[in-house]
Amino acid sequence: MSRTNLIVFGTRPEAIKMAPLVQKFLKNKNFVTKVCVTAQHREMLDQVLDFFEITPDFDLDLMRPNQNLYSLTATIIENMKPVLEEVKPDYVYVHGDTTTSMAVGIAAFYSGAKICHVEAGLRTFNRQYPFPEEFNRQLTGKIADYHFSPTELSKSNLLAENTKEENILVTGNTVIDALLYGIDKVNAENFKDAEIENLKTILNFQNKIILVTGHRRENHGDGLISICAALKTIAEKHPEVEIIYPVHLNPNVVGPVNELLGGIKNIFLVSPLAYPAFIWLMEKSYLIITDSGGIQEEAPSLGKPVLVTRTTTERPEAVEEGTVILLGTNTDSIIEETEKLLTNVDYYEGMSMLHNPYGDGKSAERIVNFIEAL
Ligand code: UD1
Ligand code: UDP
Repeated sequence: MSRTNLIVFGTRPEAIKMAPLVQKFLKNKNFVTKVCVTAQHREMLDQVLDFFEITPDFDLDLMRPNQNLYSLTATIIENMKPVLEEVKPDYVYVHGDTTTSMAVGIAAFYSGAKICHVEAGLRTFNRQYPFPEEFNRQLTGKIADYHFSPTELSKSNLLAENTKEENILVTGNTVIDALLYGIDKVNAENFKDAEIENLKTILNFQNKIILVTGHRRENHGDGLISICAALKTIAEKHPEVEIIYPVHLNPNVVGPVNELLGGIKNIFLVSPLAYPAFIWLMEKSYLIITDSGGIQEEAPSLGKPVLVTRTTTERPEAVEEGTVILLGTNTDSIIEETEKLLTNVDYYEGMSMLHNPYGDGKSAERIVNFIEAL
């Protein structure tokens, strides 16, 4: 008798990182696999579903403008009940550290399904940084039955919390499966993409392109103001540089960023890019400034230096290997480090080596094999 999977996600990064698993399970005849999106994100989620050609079986359509954590958590749990009752899954898969992951984990526990946590064991050990993600992933780790850790380090974090070793599998991060699939598709001869064509008209690729993203809740307010001040100074002092910032749709980000950086000649503020255009642009960039988790994992595979506007990271592997520097949000530190990378060729080259601390593109396959063998 075939077993039933329910794969659930809600935001852009979860969708990118779960897409390879959805694709693999849908091809496997030993499982019935259903996909549910909470749609904690809407436009930014739909962009990913389009690219990976995923049609969810259930779409809870829960995003509300400037939503808060209380109501989002409560509505996810409530809205998962009928889905879980209809599908009666043997296994529910959640990803990482969002409110969707944590709330779906709780609902899945109530349903009696086995809970499979993809991207398990990342830790900063500080519940306020990143907020609320560190709390979400610790809680999801407690709820989960099976833990798919991207690296040995994330596995050791789980072991230190007394998680049973036989329930942990080091898989690599599915973000690399997605990246390799994406890069292949984008570089295929017949691939046409309106966003990429548009980027070619607005940016001058003879210049050094700095790609920026930022959205973390703990950076809202002062942190974001300080980052924007650094970007403004860099743009003014370096006309040979073009800064492109696909601005996250969170109103606490869009508002201040447009106000502080709008109208500067070599700063281009654009809407969030769909995944193909974004990875194409990462490849073309000179350097990346970000507080994103996923981008810290992708950039080493593309050999791009990353300045992280956070003081802690749950992804220390690339910091140790030297492609990623943790800077925090201090304006002077961001300017100083960016200028060093713009002017010191040896320093730049030292940070631009290609390496893959986060996986080899076979993570989803390992997860499927593990579940199949249970
Ligand atoms: C969420 C996750 C964060 C993850 C990030 C990835 C939580 C608590 N936060 O943060 O861990 O790193 O996604 O991007 O789970 N919005 C839109 N359209 C969209 C997406 C967002 O308009 O497609 C706006 C809405 O007004 C929404 C707001 O952004 O209410 C905030 O979205 P939310 O998912 O709560 O927070 P993020 O900052 O996106
Ligand atoms: N990304 C994208 N378009 C953008 C910015 C990012 O497709 O305009 C992709 C990026 O390649 C990475 C993921 O979105 O895979 C990261 O998402 P985000 O930074 O929102 O969340 P985090 O990883 O910090 O949770």
